[in-house]
Amino acid sequence: MHAISRKRLKLPYVALLLLTMFLWVNQAAAEYGDIVMNAKAEAMREAEVDDVLFPHWFHRIRYRCNVCHEKIFTLKAGSNDITMANISIEHKMCGVCHDGSIAWEALECERCHSQEPGWSAGPIQHSIHSETPEKPLIDTRQKRYTKLYEIASGWHPLALTGSGLPLDKYGLVDWAGAVREGIVEPIWNLDPKINETPALSRDSVIVFESKGDFMPDVTFSHDIHSYWLQCDICHASKNGAIFKDEVGANSVTMLEIAQGKWCARCHDKVGFPISDCSRCHNQPKDEPLKKGMIKRKYLPQKIETEPHNGLFDF
Ligand code: HEC
Ligand code: HEC
Ligand code: HEC
Ligand code: HEC
Ligand code: HEC
Ligand code: HEC
Repeated sequence: MHAISRKRLKLPYVALLLLTMFLWVNQAAAEYGDIVMNAKAEAMREAEVDDVLFPHWFHRIRYRCNVCHEKIFTLKAGSNDITMANISIEHKMCGVCHDGSIAWEALECERCHSQEPGWSAGPIQHSIHSETPEKPLIDTRQKRYTKLYEIASGWHPLALTGSGLPLDKYGLVDWAGAVREGIVEPIWNLDPKINETPALSRDSVIVFESKGDFMPDVTFSHDIHSYWLQCDICHASKNGAIFKDEVGANSVTMLEIAQGKWCARCHDKVGFPISDCSRCHNQPKDEPLKKGMIKRKYLPQKIETEPHNGLFDF
């Protein structure tokens, strides 16, 4: 049995969501988890269109990640070769849906080409600063940007705050909560009759023992992850598995997570941010394990020499 409730979508929320979407489209502001796409910048400038801004939130209200990853798009920004020909003629990539049947056809350029050039490609990690709502954070022109600076200065999203979706302490959408409360009910497959099978859901909770005493242990729940994602995303991803499917087989460190590996392949990008420490570190060391929890053993720690992104530059 799946622990996540499957109540129907509540109508007032739908109305609020539609209103927010309308406001959002008119503001064209970037939201946490949106992806800036500019691999084909030169051709786009020739055609006099801006960069593409792909809004994850707009799609994940309707679709679980499984619909797109990795049947349509591999899980790495910039790794999908997208052209207008494969969208409009071959009906691949965005054109799987944006062909006038499932969603509007790719005719109005600026609906997708909505991002003023100059921003770095990839996910918008921390939305918008409350004082300068028109400027998303990851401006390549801003050289002294660090993660700590961003956390310390309290960046906030604006577009979704009035949506009626539950929010986390940063004002970002709490998608796990939205699913638990039955506020959104995204579909698993483009064919709404196909749902995930028991073979595609799992209930075990892996407890990662955090080294040292100052942080509680980490819980990784298969339940919420296999609600959104297919097993293959983590255990047989197209560009190499993120995690081997064996307890303790992955030598995970916080430093590598802060560099964008392991859990941060999604968290800090589309899932909730890494700065929300206690959402992962939520198992006090002296608390007995609950049913279904599997505790990992310590693994020998590698010596880290690579430069990192400043998260721990206190
Ligand atoms: C409607 C399709 C769609 C859905 C649904 C979707 N994504 Fe994506 N995702 C994309 C596209 C498009 C990209 C960008 C690909 C590119 O740049 O080549 C992307 C990129 C990503 C990346 C790469 C970020 C990086 O920095 O490399 C991650 C991680 C990701 N998505 C996670 C998710 C998660 C988690 C979900 C579900 C909560 C999800 N996506 C749902 C279409 C989708
Ligand atoms: C799995 C189906 C699917 C895929 C794949 C998909 N979309 Fe969408 N998209 C939708 C649906 C459905 C809507 C909502 C349409 C509506 O409101 O009429 C939407 C809405 C949008 C919006 C919201 C803004 C607006 O004006 O409505 C943007 C922007 C967008 N898509 C861009 C993209 C881009 C860029 C890609 C490819 C990188 C893409 N989509 C891939 C289904 C999809
Ligand atoms: C459904 C969303 C969507 C719409 C609508 C759309 N595009 Fe695109 N377009 C994309 C995506 C995604 C890319 C790939 C961006 C990248 O990877 O750099 C792209 C790339 C391009 C490129 C560079 C690649 C190539 O095919 O030469 C040009 C030029 C372009 N678009 C022009 C247009 C024009 C002109 C229109 C309006 C007639 C338009 N686009 C409408 C999503 C869209
Ligand atoms: C978001 C990533 C993710 C997804 C999706 C995922 N897993 Fe895992 N899985 C993990 C992690 C992390 C571990 C722990 C690995 C470790 O201890 O080093 C794990 C461990 C396992 C294990 C060993 C522990 C156990 O539960 O018995 C199995 C078997 C497994 N996964 C199967 C699956 C199956 C089947 C699915 C789909 C229903 C799935 N996983 C989906 C990340 C994922
Ligand atoms: C392939 C993408 C992916 C990977 C890898 C991943 N997650 Fe997640 N995780 C998600 C998504 C999507 C959600 C749903 C909530 C959201 O989007 O913020 C989620 C939710 C969670 C939640 C639930 C929060 C709550 O409020 O219930 C926890 C805790 C969590 N992840 C921890 C981890 C840990 C620990 C790891 C690494 C061992 C990990 N995740 C790896 C995508 C991922
Ligand atoms: C997405 C989940 C996630 C979030 C959010 C997260 N951590 Fe971790 N953290 C982990 C995992 C998984 C490990 C366990 C690595 C292992 O097996 O030793 C870990 C381990 C640690 C350790 C032990 C040292 C090490 O490298 O293993 C420390 C210290 C730590 N985290 C601090 C933090 C702090 C501080 C934050 C907030 C800024 C944070 N973590 C946020 C998942 C997370």
